[in-house]
Amino acid sequence: MDDLNGRVAVVTGGGSGIGRGIARTFGAAGMAVAVADIRQSSAEAVASEIESAGGRALGIGVDVTSEESLAAAVREIDNWAGGVNLLCANAGVLARVGSLAQHTLSDWEYTLSVNVLGIVKTVDAFLPALRASAPDAHIVTTASLGGIVSEVRAPIGAYIASKYATVGYSEMLRAELAEQGIGVSVLCPGVVASDLMATSAANRPDAFGEQASPHQAAGGAPPPPVKVMPAEEVGPIVIRAIRANRFLVLTHPQTRPLVEDRFRAMLEDFDFAAAGG
Ligand SMILES: NC(=O)c1ccc[n+]([C@@H]2O[C@H](COP(=O)([O-])OP(=O)(O)OC[C@H]3O[C@@H](n4cnc5c(N)ncnc54)[C@H](O)[C@@H]3O)[C@@H](O)[C@H]2O)c1
Repeated sequence: MDDLNGRVAVVTGGGSGIGRGIARTFGAAGMAVAVADIRQSSAEAVASEIESAGGRALGIGVDVTSEESLAAAVREIDNWAGGVNLLCANAGVLARVGSLAQHTLSDWEYTLSVNVLGIVKTVDAFLPALRASAPDAHIVTTASLGGIVSEVRAPIGAYIASKYATVGYSEMLRAELAEQGIGVSVLCPGVVASDLMATSAANRPDAFGEQASPHQAAGGAPPPPVKVMPAEEVGPIVIRAIRANRFLVLTHPQTRPLVEDRFRAMLEDFDFAAAGG
């Protein structure tokens, strides 16, 4: 998909952070943007920002863990714009910072319900509309750099596992949808400024219990310093990748050595296997 002007985009988790940045960039590029978030007021605020800047936007409340909520969003967006060209399945949570021993089953269930099944349900809900727009159709899922390397210097095991799952799912989706004229990319950002931990705690359903604070869970140790990218810088990177139909959308080129180390170790394991004995 090359010409974005006049196309219709949906951004889940668009009410803050990376999703907000992406939605604003799409609006400035001439797309009609449906900003969807479990916090409807945040989605509406971002839609207002886009409209104040001269763009066209709709803010709606949606819970990506609920098929009913997603079906209602699909109907609302169809009534508003008459179709969808671009879906960013971006909503995600960070439910626990702490060792695997500190993760509760509820931490795992909350993480996987949004970060994995939430993306699957979002794609399933919007796929008929995207098929109708093909070949002017593209899906961007949001995983993380932590979906291709676990060495992200933070004890976030459930999050890492969920993001590896998202990358694997997106890889399969890209292969399946290519012949239907729908592109698929997976956004794998390094550290980007956002309130992910706080919004995850605030949005956490009662059924999953209260979220441990990061300091409590990590034993009070401060995280090591990292280069934090402003969320506004992610949108232009995503647009460039969509136009080129790239699969992995990477934001921090300086993290390349982490990936090289991972694949070097994998090749060494092949050497070990080939040596037999
Ligand atoms: N910030 C980072 O450093 C970073 C790095 C890599 C990947 N990511 C990923 O980027 C995505 C966006 O995160 P962010 O950092 O901008 O955090 P954020 O908390 O600012 O944004 C996430 C948004 O998703 C919404 N959301 C949460 N659960 C939802 C649900 N069930 N239904 C609909 N909306 C829901 C939240 O209300 C929030 O507005 C996530 O998938 C996250 O895992 C973030």
